Amino acid sequence: MRLDKFLGITGCCSRSDAKRIIRSGGVSVNGSVAKSADMSMDPDVDTVIFRGQTVVYRRYTYIMLNKPEGVVSATEDGRDRTVLDLLPEEIPKANLFPCGRLDKYTLGLMLITDNGVLGHRLLAPKSHVSKEYYFRAKHPISREDADRFEKGLTLEDGYETKPAKIELRGDGNEGVITLVEGKYHQIKRMLEALGNKITYLERIRFGPLLLDSALERGEWRYLTAEEIAMLESHGSSQL
Ligand code: URA
Repeated sequence: MRLDKFLGITGCCSRSDAKRIIRSGGVSVNGSVAKSADMSMDPDVDTVIFRGQTVVYRRYTYIMLNKPEGVVSATEDGRDRTVLDLLPEEIPKANLFPCGRLDKYTLGLMLITDNGVLGHRLLAPKSHVSKEYYFRAKHPISREDADRFEKGLTLEDGYETKPAKIELRGDGNEGVITLVEGKYHQIKRMLEALGNKITYLERIRFGPLLLDSALERGEWRYLTAEEIAMLESHGSSQL
């Protein structure tokens, strides 16, 4: 792999900045100062130091994105911008996919990875990975409706939702919902089944992963080693 590509995919800098940083002596490979951006290296074997820090290479890419409104959680779309379009060019996208779906107008935590085995496990219905959403609704939700929501509702297509959790705040038209499943437009349809309407929806947790409050809408970062370890060891969630 080219050295500038390696620095780009490991998040050290953009591929275009890599050239300049390498030229100024900021990168060494196996103890020798690197001279050119197109130098060939083996990420599994070579030790790269970038501005004094050893670069950790991971076989898989794990990204947390704060999804903005109007972007679709797909790998490609003929009409709308996708969550992958928000990532910079130097990140190779061929194998990346959004782990789970958020509606076009839902905001917040989106995990993007190329680890198909992990993604499959986290999304499998039997894994019951819990997800937390901050919401606002058009009308206040009564305690009685919240109880119905928590026990499980029948959606318009006859689907019976699994027990969920709803914590009401303020005057009852906002709060936090926790689900252990992810049917199409689930929260929107659950509120509709109560004669109500979602006016704002933001995912704030996916399994053990919390939305990083330092990320502005549309911003992303690589997961930390601790976050990756938490995801890898994550079993079924509790509500
Ligand atoms: N429920 C919804 O209705 N939309 C989402 O994006 C996620 C959960």
